[in-house]
Amino acid sequence: MKDNIILIGFMGSGKTSVGIKLSYQLKRTMIDTDKWIEQKQKMTVAEIFEAYGEDAFRSMETQCLKELIEVAEKQIISVGGGLPMKEENHRLLKQLGTVYYLRVRPEVVYERLKSDTTRPLLQVDNPMERIQTLMEQRSPIYERCADISIDVSDLTFEEILEQITGEKISCS
Ligand code: S3P
Repeated sequence: MKDNIILIGFMGSGKTSVGIKLSYQLKRTMIDTDKWIEQKQKMTVAEIFEAYGEDAFRSMETQCLKELIEVAEKQIISVGGGLPMKEENHRLLKQLGTVYYLRVRPEVVYERLKSDTTRPLLQVDNPMERIQTLMEQRSPIYERCADISIDVSDLTFEEILEQITGEKISCS
């Protein structure tokens, strides 16, 4: 197994923000699978969904993990919210490092993402209902995929980082 820190969780759970802060604290670089795919395709995630469909995007996510296994060592890797839904990806994530699940309540996601237009899966008439439905389906899978689960809804960044690194620091 490689020595990367992998962050999984629902859209809006804070994977990217936590990942950036972790990368400063641990002086490690950070990779985001959505950004990796966007750079390769020279398209945004929304454009990929629109042009090729969700299944094609999911294949790109698996390909991205395979590439990361070749190149990533001691990095922070934040993965798209749907990536752990594919069973094949669990094995790849385990090869990449320790998997942390940032568990968050649906209302928190809604508040954070209600004005967001970049997540194609939430561009629906009733985003709260979609968040709840997706979360019900996905939560047990995230739990199964993770080595460590952290309930982040009521935690500060300092507290989340402390749970991951075991070190107390100030994020301000
Ligand atoms: C998705 C989450 C997004 C992105 C895509 C699909 C999902 O990433 O990969 O819009 O299925 O939950 P974030 O979790 O970084 O928002």
